[in-house]
Amino acid sequence: MDPINLYDFESRAKSTVPHNAWSYISGGSQDGLALKRNRSMLESILLRPRFLRDVRKRNLSTTILGEAIRFPVMIAPASSQTLVHPDGEIATTKAAGTAGTIMSLSTSSTKSIEEVANVASGPLWFQLFHCGREQTEDLVRRAEDSGYKAICLTVDTPIPSHKEVDVRNNWKLPPETYRGNFSHKIATNGPSRLDPGIFEGHGKPPTIPLTFEQLPWLKSLTRLPLVIKGIRTAEDAALCVKYDIDGIVVSNHGGRQIDCTLSSIETLPEVVAAVNGKAEIYFDSGIRRGSDVIKALALGARGVLIGRPIFWGLAVNGQAGVEKVLDILYRELDLVLAYCGFTSVDQIDDAILHLPVEMEYSRIPYVEEIRGLADLHSKGLISRNEFDSKRESLLGIEKQ
Ligand code: FNR
Repeated sequence: MDPINLYDFESRAKSTVPHNAWSYISGGSQDGLALKRNRSMLESILLRPRFLRDVRKRNLSTTILGEAIRFPVMIAPASSQTLVHPDGEIATTKAAGTAGTIMSLSTSSTKSIEEVANVASGPLWFQLFHCGREQTEDLVRRAEDSGYKAICLTVDTPIPSHKEVDVRNNWKLPPETYRGNFSHKIATNGPSRLDPGIFEGHGKPPTIPLTFEQLPWLKSLTRLPLVIKGIRTAEDAALCVKYDIDGIVVSNHGGRQIDCTLSSIETLPEVVAAVNGKAEIYFDSGIRRGSDVIKALALGARGVLIGRPIFWGLAVNGQAGVEKVLDILYRELDLVLAYCGFTSVDQIDDAILHLPVEMEYSRIPYVEEIRGLADLHSKGLISRNEFDSKRESLLGIEKQ
């Protein structure tokens, strides 16, 4: 029988992908606590369905940074997609186009910025790992020249991390799977200053940390909107607002980097409260069902991204597999939307959620105060300026 949900795709993919590559894709860091918690906390949020409404006609479309998409599920940036299918990111990009959604291309992709742009029929984001000033400038310029719609800077990998399972398996990513943007061909044929030697000593594109103070420099390189991926606290979210970024992906990298953190969904409410409408918020880490999508949207995300399920779809059936994964999520979201009494994704609010006690209150008192302030602002009882200055003083931002 064909897969009917994402877990069917996962088990089918597992039986075809070689063991060590499978462990690399599916694993989490250290004890996998954040990885497991991503799912268990999403599962512990329950829905309060609403009935006796006319929900026969439904519209799942939305906009992300002004780009129309057919439904609020996007492709997360993920490296090395030819590990599971020879077409890799080309297949994923075509599938995203068919599904009417955004494809994000990783800095560490097998296929290059330009190859992917050539086959795209929908909007593209370029995910950036900072590679030093010259090379970052080069990557950003190439993405802009190739028609990408946003730069998505991943910030939650300040130094290289390793997964113990990969150490045990003595697993090294095959270099050809993550150097698509740094190939010798690109480096010598065009005006690019990319240095293939950048990988020396890293094994992967380097994780050169940027700091908040360097964001104005990054923004000055491009007219494209800047999205920051990997934010998990009100404090960092408020600093992102201060630096005038356009979007935030609340993400714990699918539990792949630092372990022993909250799940990604637990961190969404504090980021939403701190940003309070000044930037678009997206969510990833653990999305496997349409009901997960509606939960994230109800907590304030404008859209979600999927990571590992891309690999499952690719491994099972290339482009058609990714299309099917996206189609399943579309249908599941459509169904749960109707059962919650909505006809459009704009109508979703947190009244449809029954939250577990862990998520009802933040244990950090000032996060609760910010949520209270955001509530006052939404009721028109305090101005935006009052909200911003009270939040900054609660978080000590003016001193940073
Ligand atoms: C990733 N992810 C990732 N993120 C990023 O910003 N740049 C990257 O190159 C990669 N590479 C990557 C490879 C693989 C194999 C995986 C599984 C993931 C993280 C990704 O964008 C996303 O945050 C998570 O995958 C979301 O969690 P789920 O959907 O996998 O649970």
